[in-house]
Amino acid sequence: MADAKVEQGRPDAVTGGTGLPTAEELAAAGLLLDIDGAVATVALNRPERRNAMTFTLWRTLARIGRSLPAEVRVVVLRGEGSCFSAGIDLGMFSGEGEGFADGSDEAAADAFIADLQQGYTWLRRPEIVTIAQVHGHAIGGAFQLALACDIRVIADDTRFCMKEPALGLVPDLTGTKPLVEIVGLNRALELCLTARTVLADEALRLGLAETVVPAADLPGAVADLTASLLAVNAGAAVATKRLLQQASENTLEQQCAAERREQIGRLREMFGGAAQG
Ligand code: ACO
Repeated sequence: MADAKVEQGRPDAVTGGTGLPTAEELAAAGLLLDIDGAVATVALNRPERRNAMTFTLWRTLARIGRSLPAEVRVVVLRGEGSCFSAGIDLGMFSGEGEGFADGSDEAAADAFIADLQQGYTWLRRPEIVTIAQVHGHAIGGAFQLALACDIRVIADDTRFCMKEPALGLVPDLTGTKPLVEIVGLNRALELCLTARTVLADEALRLGLAETVVPAADLPGAVADLTASLLAVNAGAAVATKRLLQQASENTLEQQCAAERREQIGRLREMFGGAAQG
């Protein structure tokens, strides 16, 4: 990985602050961040705990999303060590070290979960293309993190599992919508309510991964994909992602209108046409 050329933010114990997290804050969250020009790489970095995810990790992810330099076009998420991540740190359920919403105060619990979801929602922004580089286990909140990304490139040892229902919970880190959109309601129900593990071949077949490669080839495959994405005109990439994101919910008429709007914007930018009327 290239040297960390991260413009460090000011220390801020509450990750709602502005500016990129400091090196200390990243370490406390179990994250690594490398920003090299147009590419940001975020690594889950608690390999001794299988990159188990804490509330601080999710809040720090949200802060990274809020603070990314404008020149970043591709964001890669990956895990250090033997797997992508074992999902939520099970210590969180006992309130180990961090505040925990037990649901007794509905408004507070709603705000608590909404705050954590922000660690995932920014990955959909049209200004960036997000790649989940997955190997080994991707369980629960980690599976949902991969689902929040635009493209999943996975190793042949990948094991996806939506474990939450088996623990008495629901998947609440933005994963239910992409899961249903990708595999359909019936398959999503089957996967969630059995909490079974999906291996790489099946993940590819179901559309849960765009590409499967041997584990040793994973970094190279992601680097090649990143280079291809960066070769495309930046403005066209943003406009096209915005367009594709609305396609399934628009009527044909609405989508045709959206295509015209985006294309007019592209034409103006490329050929300098002035807005009329
Ligand atoms: N939370 C906290 N600690 C964890 C977690 C976790 N989710 N996953 C692994 N660890 C810890 C283990 O306790 C162990 O710690 P120790 O060395 O102090 O004993 C260490 O990481 C290594 O774990 P192993 O189980 O020995 O690793 P292995 O590679 O054999 O197995 C596996 C990996 C399958 C991921 C297993 O650790 C596991 O099942 N973890 C729990 C997964 C889980 O239920 N996650 C919650 C999903 S729901 C959600 O995310 C909302």
